[in-house]
Amino acid sequence: MKREFLKFLALAAALAASGMASAQTTLRMGYALAPAPNSHYGVGAGTFAEEIAKRTQGRFRIEQYPNSQLGGEREMIESVQLGTLDLVATSSGPVPGFVPETGIVDIPFLFRDPAHARSVLDGPIGQELLAKFPAKNLIALAWGEQGFRHLTNNKRPVGTPEDMKGLKLRTMENPVHITAFRTLGAAPTPMAWPEVITGLQQGTIDGQENPISVITSAKLSQVQKYLTLTRHVYSPAVFIMSPKIWSVLSDADKKSFQEASKLAAAAMRKYVDDLEKKGVDDLKAQGMQVVMAIDTAKFQSILAPAYAEYAKKYGQAGIDRIKNYK
Ligand code: PAF
Repeated sequence: MKREFLKFLALAAALAASGMASAQTTLRMGYALAPAPNSHYGVGAGTFAEEIAKRTQGRFRIEQYPNSQLGGEREMIESVQLGTLDLVATSSGPVPGFVPETGIVDIPFLFRDPAHARSVLDGPIGQELLAKFPAKNLIALAWGEQGFRHLTNNKRPVGTPEDMKGLKLRTMENPVHITAFRTLGAAPTPMAWPEVITGLQQGTIDGQENPISVITSAKLSQVQKYLTLTRHVYSPAVFIMSPKIWSVLSDADKKSFQEASKLAAAAMRKYVDDLEKKGVDDLKAQGMQVVMAIDTAKFQSILAPAYAEYAKKYGQAGIDRIKNYK
């Protein structure tokens, strides 16, 4: 803690004394998956680093810590909150544990397609949610993206809700997802990402759910036999920064960080779009057995009690505002 406080003082002094002209400040950014070009996080973080260097004339350097080197996403957010890590690019998974209101975007079958999700997150609703982070000692710079989540498992091809019964499914540490999978009859097992591959290998869990971007990048075809394109929930990502750093930035530098994070988000989204079809073809070629679609209405009707819980927690008006956003 003392070391971090000294780092903070040094940073503040460097920024003040240099007139921001000469000193270079290195900021550490963590994320769960591979560096560029092998994951959407890597590509996003790489774009962020380049843009920050360019926009601040090299006064800030972003040092990347990919592949969960700094822990699971919840741990990394905690570190950013404490100021022992400067930046994290994370899924929305553990975020409601810090900013409960964000759980609304994790509701299953809420978004029609990527364009709908992106316009909500980039528009007033998404920005209102980002504005809730500072009260929790976190600065949210921009929403990024992983794509729509799909189901993989080693037990059987899943085509109907009945096929989900009793499947031990790793979920993110996210209350909205846990409620959904319990309601569908699966046995949800919340677990931090760094434990998932071992869990699948050892059979302590039967399956997991993630977008194609993650399934390909983490090479899940090596440990999972069946893939169902459930598109059961859109998976946002978010770039989060420590207020310790943010509070000593000039207004111009704050603007640079915000602009860089928007370009990083755009790079993530492009990566996800490019991979959407090719990724499935590759996974088939690697031996995964793929169920190409589900009867969404059937899943939604079984989820009725979960939707009632979400309405109680987040308010039906807020949910409808997202659903009807054009
Ligand atoms: O499933 C998760 O926990 C997340 O989607 C992952 C893989 C860590 C990427 O953010």
